Amino acid sequence: MIKPTAVIGDCQLFLGDCLDIMPHLPKVDAVITSPPYDNLREYGKSFSWDFEGTAQHIKKIIKPGGVCVWVVGDQVKEGSETGSSFFQALYFKEIGMNIHDTMIYWKYAFPFPDKTRYAQVFEYMFILSLGKPKTTNIIKVPTKVHNRVKSSSRQRNADGTTTPMKSAMGKAERNLENIWIYDVGFMKSAKDSYVFDHPAIFPEQLAQDHVYSWTNKNETILDPFMGSGTTGVACVKLGRKFIGIEIEEKYFDIACKRIEEAYKQPDMFIEETKKAEQVGLDLASND
Ligand SMILES: C[S@@+](CC[C@H](N)C(=O)[O-])C[C@H]1O[C@@H](n2cnc3c(N)ncnc32)[C@H](O)[C@@H]1O
Repeated sequence: MIKPTAVIGDCQLFLGDCLDIMPHLPKVDAVITSPPYDNLREYGKSFSWDFEGTAQHIKKIIKPGGVCVWVVGDQVKEGSETGSSFFQALYFKEIGMNIHDTMIYWKYAFPFPDKTRYAQVFEYMFILSLGKPKTTNIIKVPTKVHNRVKSSSRQRNADGTTTPMKSAMGKAERNLENIWIYDVGFMKSAKDSYVFDHPAIFPEQLAQDHVYSWTNKNETILDPFMGSGTTGVACVKLGRKFIGIEIEEKYFDIACKRIEEAYKQPDMFIEETKKAEQVGLDLASND
Protein backbone atom coordinates (compact mmCIF):
# COMPACT_ATOMS: atom_id res chain seq x y z
CA MET A 1 0.00 0.00 0.00
CA ILE A 2 1.43 3.38 -0.95
CA LYS A 3 0.94 6.55 1.05
CA PRO A 4 -2.12 8.61 0.02
CA THR A 5 -1.64 12.29 -0.81
CA ALA A 6 -4.49 13.12 1.59
CA VAL A 7 -6.54 11.24 4.15
CA ILE A 8 -9.91 12.73 5.09
CA GLY A 9 -11.99 10.59 7.46
CA ASP A 10 -12.44 7.21 5.74
CA CYS A 11 -11.28 8.57 2.37
CA GLN A 12 -7.78 8.03 0.97
CA LEU A 13 -7.04 10.37 -1.93
CA PHE A 14 -4.16 10.00 -4.38
CA LEU A 15 -2.85 12.65 -6.75
CA GLY A 16 -1.41 10.80 -9.75
CA ASP A 17 -2.01 8.40 -12.61
CA CYS A 18 -4.37 5.56 -11.71
CA LEU A 19 -2.24 3.14 -13.74
CA ASP A 20 0.71 3.81 -11.43
CA ILE A 21 -1.30 3.78 -8.22
CA MET A 22 -3.80 0.92 -8.66
CA PRO A 23 -1.17 -1.89 -8.52
CA HIS A 24 -0.25 -0.76 -4.98
CA LEU A 25 -3.77 -0.69 -3.55
CA PRO A 26 -5.63 -3.40 -1.60
CA LYS A 27 -8.66 -5.09 -3.18
CA VAL A 28 -11.91 -3.12 -3.12
CA ASP A 29 -15.60 -4.06 -3.03
CA ALA A 30 -16.56 -1.87 -5.99
CA VAL A 31 -15.31 0.64 -8.54
CA ILE A 32 -17.65 3.49 -9.46
CA THR A 33 -16.20 5.73 -12.13
CA SER A 34 -16.47 7.68 -15.34
CA PRO A 35 -13.34 7.57 -17.51
CA PRO A 36 -12.13 10.41 -19.76
CA TYR A 37 -14.06 9.00 -22.72
CA ASP A 38 -13.21 10.01 -26.28
CA ASN A 39 -11.62 13.24 -25.02
CA LEU A 40 -15.14 14.62 -24.92
CA ARG A 41 -13.91 17.11 -22.37
CA GLU A 42 -10.63 18.88 -21.98
CA TYR A 43 -9.31 18.24 -18.52
CA GLY A 44 -6.29 20.52 -18.59
CA LYS A 45 -2.92 18.80 -18.81
CA SER A 46 -2.55 16.64 -21.86
CA PHE A 47 -2.54 13.00 -20.93
CA SER A 48 -3.20 9.81 -22.72
CA TRP A 49 -5.19 7.10 -21.13
CA ASP A 50 -4.67 3.44 -21.66
CA PHE A 51 -8.12 1.85 -21.58
CA GLU A 52 -7.00 -1.81 -21.78
CA GLY A 53 -4.40 -1.33 -19.02
CA THR A 54 -6.97 0.40 -16.81
CA ALA A 55 -9.57 -2.34 -17.38
CA GLN A 56 -7.08 -5.05 -16.47
CA HIS A 57 -6.10 -3.27 -13.26
CA ILE A 58 -9.75 -2.79 -12.36
CA LYS A 59 -10.40 -6.52 -12.81
CA LYS A 60 -7.41 -7.34 -10.56
CA ILE A 61 -8.39 -4.90 -7.82
CA ILE A 62 -12.06 -5.95 -7.45
CA LYS A 63 -12.92 -8.65 -4.90
CA PRO A 64 -14.86 -11.69 -6.20
CA GLY A 65 -18.50 -10.61 -6.54
CA GLY A 66 -17.49 -6.95 -6.71
CA VAL A 67 -18.95 -4.57 -9.27
CA CYS A 68 -17.53 -1.88 -11.53
CA VAL A 69 -19.95 0.87 -12.56
CA TRP A 70 -18.53 2.31 -15.79
CA VAL A 71 -20.32 5.50 -16.89
CA VAL A 72 -19.45 6.37 -20.48
CA GLY A 73 -20.72 8.07 -23.64
CA ASP A 74 -19.53 8.30 -27.24
CA GLN A 75 -18.38 11.23 -29.32
CA VAL A 76 -19.39 11.72 -32.96
CA LYS A 77 -16.20 11.75 -35.08
CA GLU A 78 -16.22 12.12 -38.87
CA GLY A 79 -19.93 11.50 -39.04
CA SER A 80 -20.00 8.36 -36.90
CA GLU A 81 -20.35 7.65 -33.22
CA THR A 82 -17.07 6.18 -32.01
CA GLY A 83 -18.66 3.15 -30.37
CA SER A 84 -15.99 3.27 -27.63
CA SER A 85 -18.58 2.52 -24.99
CA PHE A 86 -19.54 -0.80 -26.64
CA PHE A 87 -15.92 -1.67 -27.27
CA GLN A 88 -15.09 -1.05 -23.63
CA ALA A 89 -17.99 -3.09 -22.26
CA LEU A 90 -17.11 -6.01 -24.55
CA TYR A 91 -13.43 -5.76 -23.59
CA PHE A 92 -14.34 -6.10 -19.90
CA LYS A 93 -16.31 -9.23 -20.87
CA GLU A 94 -13.38 -10.57 -22.88
CA ILE A 95 -11.08 -10.31 -19.85
CA GLY A 96 -13.52 -12.22 -17.66
CA MET A 97 -16.02 -9.79 -16.17
CA ASN A 98 -19.79 -10.12 -16.60
CA ILE A 99 -21.88 -7.40 -18.17
CA HIS A 100 -24.40 -7.62 -15.36
CA ASP A 101 -26.57 -4.81 -16.71
CA THR A 102 -26.50 -2.02 -19.30
CA MET A 103 -28.15 0.92 -17.65
CA ILE A 104 -28.97 4.35 -19.06
CA TYR A 105 -28.17 7.67 -17.40
CA TRP A 106 -30.69 10.08 -18.88
CA LYS A 107 -29.45 13.66 -18.54
CA TYR A 108 -32.44 15.89 -18.05
CA ALA A 109 -31.20 19.14 -19.63
CA PHE A 110 -31.10 21.02 -22.92
CA PRO A 111 -28.89 18.92 -25.22
CA PHE A 112 -26.52 20.31 -27.87
CA PRO A 113 -28.61 20.80 -31.04
CA ASP A 114 -27.95 18.53 -34.02
CA LYS A 115 -29.97 18.97 -37.20
CA THR A 116 -29.60 15.36 -38.36
CA ARG A 117 -29.95 13.35 -35.17
CA TYR A 118 -32.42 13.09 -32.32
CA ALA A 119 -31.28 15.04 -29.29
CA GLN A 120 -28.54 13.18 -27.43
CA VAL A 121 -29.62 12.88 -23.80
CA PHE A 122 -28.01 9.75 -22.34
CA GLU A 123 -24.84 7.93 -21.37
CA TYR A 124 -24.36 4.25 -20.62
CA MET A 125 -23.83 2.94 -17.12
CA PHE A 126 -22.35 -0.55 -17.59
CA ILE A 127 -22.58 -2.66 -14.47
CA LEU A 128 -19.65 -5.07 -14.78
CA SER A 129 -19.20 -7.76 -12.16
CA LEU A 130 -16.55 -10.26 -11.22
CA GLY A 131 -18.82 -13.31 -11.04
CA LYS A 132 -22.27 -12.96 -9.55
CA PRO A 133 -22.59 -9.60 -7.74
CA LYS A 134 -22.27 -10.16 -3.99
CA THR A 135 -24.41 -7.14 -3.12
CA THR A 136 -27.57 -6.02 -4.90
CA ASN A 137 -29.54 -3.51 -2.85
CA ILE A 138 -32.09 -2.91 -5.58
CA ILE A 139 -33.81 0.44 -5.11
CA LYS A 140 -37.58 0.20 -4.73
CA VAL A 141 -40.10 2.85 -5.66
CA PRO A 142 -43.76 3.12 -4.72
CA THR A 143 -46.21 1.89 -7.35
CA LYS A 144 -48.84 4.43 -8.30
CA VAL A 145 -51.57 1.83 -8.43
CA HIS A 146 -51.61 -0.87 -5.81
CA ASN A 147 -54.02 -3.08 -3.87
CA ARG A 148 -55.61 -3.75 -7.24
CA VAL A 149 -54.90 -6.59 -9.64
CA LYS A 150 -55.01 -5.85 -13.34
CA SER A 151 -56.77 -8.83 -14.87
CA SER A 152 -56.20 -7.85 -18.51
CA SER A 153 -52.39 -8.27 -18.49
CA ARG A 154 -51.36 -11.77 -19.55
CA GLN A 155 -47.99 -13.30 -20.32
CA ARG A 156 -47.32 -15.77 -23.15
CA ASN A 157 -45.91 -19.17 -22.13
CA ALA A 158 -43.44 -21.26 -24.17
CA ASP A 159 -46.30 -23.47 -25.48
CA GLY A 160 -48.21 -20.43 -26.78
CA THR A 161 -50.87 -20.37 -24.05
CA THR A 162 -51.28 -17.29 -21.85
CA THR A 163 -51.64 -16.89 -18.11
CA PRO A 164 -52.32 -13.82 -15.95
CA MET A 165 -49.13 -11.80 -15.57
CA LYS A 166 -47.34 -11.93 -12.23
CA SER A 167 -46.27 -8.31 -12.08
CA ALA A 168 -45.84 -5.55 -9.57
CA MET A 169 -49.61 -5.08 -9.66
CA GLY A 170 -51.12 -5.19 -6.23
CA LYS A 171 -47.81 -4.41 -4.52
CA ALA A 172 -47.03 -1.08 -2.89
CA GLU A 173 -43.43 -1.11 -4.16
CA ARG A 174 -41.62 -2.32 -7.25
CA ASN A 175 -37.99 -2.51 -8.38
CA LEU A 176 -36.74 0.62 -10.12
CA GLU A 177 -36.11 0.30 -13.88
CA ASN A 178 -32.60 0.51 -15.33
CA ILE A 179 -33.03 3.96 -16.90
CA TRP A 180 -32.19 6.60 -14.32
CA ILE A 181 -32.93 10.25 -14.96
CA TYR A 182 -31.22 13.18 -13.24
CA ASP A 183 -31.47 16.92 -13.57
CA VAL A 184 -28.05 18.09 -14.72
CA GLY A 185 -26.41 21.47 -15.19
CA PHE A 186 -25.08 24.32 -13.11
CA MET A 187 -26.11 24.00 -9.43
CA LYS A 188 -28.16 20.91 -10.25
CA SER A 189 -25.59 18.09 -10.40
CA ALA A 190 -23.96 19.47 -7.21
CA LYS A 191 -24.81 22.08 -4.59
CA ASP A 192 -21.59 24.17 -4.51
CA SER A 193 -20.53 26.40 -7.41
CA TYR A 194 -16.77 25.65 -7.10
CA VAL A 195 -17.45 22.00 -8.07
CA PHE A 196 -18.41 23.18 -11.57
CA ASP A 197 -14.78 24.14 -12.27
CA HIS A 198 -14.65 20.47 -13.28
CA PRO A 199 -16.26 20.08 -16.73
CA ALA A 200 -17.84 16.63 -16.38
CA ILE A 201 -19.25 15.91 -12.94
CA PHE A 202 -21.72 13.17 -12.09
CA PRO A 203 -24.93 14.19 -10.39
CA GLU A 204 -24.45 13.54 -6.65
CA GLN A 205 -27.62 11.46 -6.60
CA LEU A 206 -26.38 9.15 -9.37
CA ALA A 207 -23.21 8.34 -7.41
CA GLN A 208 -25.25 7.83 -4.27
CA ASP A 209 -27.73 5.49 -5.96
CA HIS A 210 -24.91 3.27 -7.25
CA VAL A 211 -22.98 3.28 -3.97
CA TYR A 212 -26.16 2.13 -2.24
CA SER A 213 -27.06 -0.47 -4.88
CA TRP A 214 -23.79 -2.40 -5.13
CA THR A 215 -22.13 -2.10 -1.70
CA ASN A 216 -22.87 -2.30 2.01
CA LYS A 217 -21.85 -0.03 4.88
CA ASN A 218 -18.10 0.04 5.72
CA GLU A 219 -17.13 -1.54 2.39
CA THR A 220 -14.51 0.16 0.17
CA ILE A 221 -15.16 1.83 -3.18
CA LEU A 222 -12.51 3.03 -5.63
CA ASP A 223 -12.89 5.81 -8.19
CA PRO A 224 -9.70 5.75 -10.33
CA PHE A 225 -10.89 8.84 -12.28
CA MET A 226 -12.10 10.79 -9.26
CA GLY A 227 -12.52 14.20 -10.90
CA SER A 228 -14.31 16.49 -8.46
CA GLY A 229 -14.84 13.65 -5.95
CA THR A 230 -18.57 12.97 -6.45
CA THR A 231 -18.24 9.23 -5.71
CA GLY A 232 -16.29 10.11 -2.56
CA VAL A 233 -19.04 12.43 -1.32
CA ALA A 234 -21.61 9.64 -1.85
CA CYS A 235 -19.39 7.21 0.10
CA VAL A 236 -19.10 9.63 3.03
CA LYS A 237 -22.84 10.12 3.02
CA LEU A 238 -23.63 6.39 3.01
CA GLY A 239 -20.90 5.27 5.42
CA ARG A 240 -18.58 3.56 2.92
CA LYS A 241 -14.77 3.83 2.74
CA PHE A 242 -13.39 5.56 -0.33
CA ILE A 243 -10.19 5.51 -2.40
CA GLY A 244 -9.94 8.19 -5.09
CA ILE A 245 -7.26 8.85 -7.72
CA GLU A 246 -7.04 12.01 -9.83
CA ILE A 247 -4.24 13.06 -12.18
CA GLU A 248 -5.02 16.79 -12.34
CA GLU A 249 -4.07 18.79 -9.25
CA LYS A 250 -6.81 21.40 -9.66
CA TYR A 251 -9.50 18.69 -9.67
CA PHE A 252 -7.79 16.80 -6.85
CA ASP A 253 -8.01 19.98 -4.74
CA ILE A 254 -11.74 20.36 -5.51
CA ALA A 255 -12.31 16.73 -4.47
CA CYS A 256 -10.44 17.24 -1.17
CA LYS A 257 -12.45 20.36 -0.35
CA ARG A 258 -15.74 18.68 -1.26
CA ILE A 259 -15.06 15.58 0.81
CA GLU A 260 -13.93 17.67 3.80
CA GLU A 261 -17.13 19.69 3.57
CA ALA A 262 -19.22 16.54 3.13
CA TYR A 263 -18.16 15.37 6.59
CA LYS A 264 -19.53 18.63 8.05
CA GLN A 265 -22.94 18.54 6.36
CA PRO A 266 -25.97 18.03 8.59
CA ASP A 267 -27.68 15.74 6.05
CA MET A 268 -24.74 13.33 6.05
CA PHE A 269 -24.76 9.77 7.35
CA ILE A 270 -28.01 8.53 5.88
CA GLU A 271 -29.07 4.89 5.96
CA GLU A 272 -30.66 4.63 2.51
CA THR A 273 -30.34 6.44 -0.76
CA LYS A 274 -33.13 8.71 -1.86
CA LYS A 275 -35.00 7.03 -4.67
CA ALA A 276 -33.54 7.84 -8.06
CA GLU A 277 -35.84 10.28 -9.79
CA GLN A 278 -37.95 8.86 -12.59
CA VAL A 279 -40.37 10.36 -15.02
CA GLY A 280 -43.17 8.53 -16.74
CA LEU A 281 -41.79 5.08 -16.07
CA ASP A 282 -44.32 3.79 -13.59
CA LEU A 283 -45.26 0.54 -15.30
CA ALA A 284 -47.99 -0.04 -12.75
CA SER A 285 -49.95 3.03 -13.80
CA ASN A 286 -50.74 2.17 -17.39
CA ASP A 287 -54.23 0.83 -16.84
C1 LIG B 1 -15.13 12.06 -16.54
S1 LIG B 1 -14.06 12.79 -15.40
C2 LIG B 1 -14.67 12.17 -13.88
C3 LIG B 1 -15.64 13.09 -13.21
C4 LIG B 1 -16.15 12.60 -11.87
N1 LIG B 1 -17.01 11.45 -12.01
C5 LIG B 1 -16.88 13.72 -11.13
O1 LIG B 1 -18.07 13.56 -10.78
O2 LIG B 1 -16.30 14.77 -10.93
C6 LIG B 1 -12.54 11.92 -15.62
C7 LIG B 1 -11.41 12.40 -14.73
O3 LIG B 1 -10.30 11.50 -14.87
C8 LIG B 1 -9.08 12.24 -14.75
N2 LIG B 1 -8.03 11.40 -15.33
C9 LIG B 1 -7.73 11.21 -16.65
N3 LIG B 1 -6.74 10.32 -16.79
C10 LIG B 1 -6.42 9.90 -15.54
C11 LIG B 1 -5.48 8.95 -15.05
N4 LIG B 1 -4.68 8.27 -15.88
N5 LIG B 1 -5.42 8.75 -13.71
C12 LIG B 1 -6.24 9.44 -12.87
N6 LIG B 1 -7.13 10.36 -13.30
C13 LIG B 1 -7.24 10.58 -14.60
C14 LIG B 1 -9.39 13.56 -15.48
O4 LIG B 1 -8.51 14.60 -15.06
C15 LIG B 1 -10.86 13.79 -15.07
O5 LIG B 1 -10.93 14.61 -13.93
